[in-house]
Amino acid sequence: MSETYDVVIIGGGPGGYNCAIRAGQLGLKVACIESRGKLGGTCLNVGCIPSKALLHASHLYHAAGHEFESLGIKVGKLDLDLDQMMAQKDDAVEGLTKGIEFLLKKNKVDYIKGRGRIAGPGKVDVEGLDGSKQSLSTKNIVIATGSEPVGLPGIEIDEERVVTNTGALSLTSVPKRLILIGAGVIGLEMGSVWSRLGSEVTVIEYLDRIMPGADAEIAKEAERTFKKQGLTFRLGMKVTGVEKMKSKLKLSMEPAKGGEAETLDADVVIVAVGRRAYTDGLGLESVGVTTDKRGVVQVTDGHFKVADGVWAIGDCIHGPMLAHKAEDDGVAVAELIAGKAGHVNYDLVPSVVYTNPEIAWVGKTEDELKAAGVEYVKGKFPFMANSRARTNHETVGFVKILADKKTDRILGAHMMGPGVGEMIAEICVAMEFGAASEDIARTCHAHPTLSEAVRQAAMGVEGWTMQM
Ligand code: NAI
Repeated sequence: MSETYDVVIIGGGPGGYNCAIRAGQLGLKVACIESRGKLGGTCLNVGCIPSKALLHASHLYHAAGHEFESLGIKVGKLDLDLDQMMAQKDDAVEGLTKGIEFLLKKNKVDYIKGRGRIAGPGKVDVEGLDGSKQSLSTKNIVIATGSEPVGLPGIEIDEERVVTNTGALSLTSVPKRLILIGAGVIGLEMGSVWSRLGSEVTVIEYLDRIMPGADAEIAKEAERTFKKQGLTFRLGMKVTGVEKMKSKLKLSMEPAKGGEAETLDADVVIVAVGRRAYTDGLGLESVGVTTDKRGVVQVTDGHFKVADGVWAIGDCIHGPMLAHKAEDDGVAVAELIAGKAGHVNYDLVPSVVYTNPEIAWVGKTEDELKAAGVEYVKGKFPFMANSRARTNHETVGFVKILADKKTDRILGAHMMGPGVGEMIAEICVAMEFGAASEDIARTCHAHPTLSEAVRQAAMGVEGWTMQM
C-alpha cells in the first residue's frame, strides 16, 4: 500500500487532466490514472483535435482547388497527399499530448499509466499497462472516464470499413462512396472532411432535421449550405443493417415512420449516432454509485458528488458531452475538494460545429423559449451585409440574438458564418455578466471585422441595424 493521496482521478481526458492540474495548483497531492497510454482522452486522441487538423487541411485543399483562382492565385495541378495530411494530424496530437504530460509533471501530479478500478471508499486499484498491480489510498476519487460511441443493432464496427470517429480520422484512402449514419456534429464534420477530399457523401438521419439541439432556423440554413457543398441528406430514415461484401458495403434502411425499405451501396460507413458514458467495470458498486441505462453516473448533490469522497465529471455525468464542459467540471471539482466554491453554469456552455462555415450557439433556442412561454425579441444580421465577410468571399450565414422582451437580457445567440466558433465567446462573456442586447449594440467593435455582425444583430433587437 502506497502513501495516501488527496485526489485520485480516473481518466486523463479534458475533464481528468484539467482537474489534476487545478488540484496540483491548489497544493493537493494528486494522481491521474489513464489507460490509453496517452493523455488527452477522446478529445485529443480521436476527437476534437485530430478532426480539426483534418478539417483545416481539407478546407485549404478544397479552397486551393475551388476558390484560389477567383482570388488571383494560380496553383497549377492540385494533388492530395493523404499520408502527409494524416501525418501532420498525428504530429499535432502527439505534440499536444506531450504538452499535457509536461503540465501534469509541472504541477506535481503522479501520472499513472494503467486501468483504475474503485475497490471501496478511498481505495483505487490500478492494473498497469506493463502488467503491474498497485493499490492507491486516497481521500477523494474523481471519476472522469468519459464516453464511448453508441453502436447500432445489426452493424458490426471494424474500424476499417464500418467505423466510428476513431476510424473516420484514419482512413488510408479517400472512399468513393461514404455513408454517415447520424446528422449530428460528428456526421457533419467528418462528412465535410471526406467530401472536400473527393468522397460522394450521404448522411442518413433518423429525425426529419439535422443537428438536433441547434436552433431550427440555423439547422435549415446549414442543411441548405451543406447540400450546395455536395452532401446528400436522407432525413427521416432508420438504418437497419450493413452487410459487408467483398467489394462493397450494402446498407439497408427504411423510413422512420414506416414504409418501404431500400438499400444503398458504400465503400465506408461512419456510425455517428451519439455516445454513452464509459463507466462499465469501474467498481462503482463498491462505493454505492449507480448509473442510468446509458452508463451516466447520477449526481445527487448538484455539485459533482456521487458518494462520500467520490466525485464524477465530464461525459460520464449529465450535461452536454463536450470537452470544454468536462474541463469546467474538472476545475470546479478540484476547487470544491480544496474547500473553495466550484460551480459550472450549464446554461452557458457554447456549442460549435467546425464545418465551413462554422456554426455556434449558446443559451436558449427559439423553440425552447416558445415552449417555456418566454416572450423574446430577435435581432438578426446576415454575413452578406458584413464588409469583412464580403471582402473575404465568405458571405454565407447570419448572426441571431434573442433577448427578453421586457428586460432586453440576452437569452441566446445562434450563428452560422466565418469564424463564429471564436465569436461566440463574446456572447458567453456578455451573458455571464447578465448583459442586455443593448450592451453589445453600444460596445464599439473594430471595423472591418466579422464581429461587427454580432454587434449589428444586437442592434437589430431594438430595430436599428445598419443594413443596406
Ligand atoms: P450527436 O448526438 O451530435 O448526433 C447523433 C445523430 O444521430 C442525431 O442527429 C440522431 O438523431 C442521429 N441518430 C441516432 N440514431 C440514429 C439511427 N439509428 N439512424 C440514423 N440517425 C440516428 O452525436 P455524434 O455526432 O455521434 O457526436 C457524439 C458526441 O460528440 C456529441 O455529444 C457531440 O456533441 C460530441 N462532439 C462534439 C464536437 C464539437 O463540439 N465540435 C465534435 C464531434 C463530436
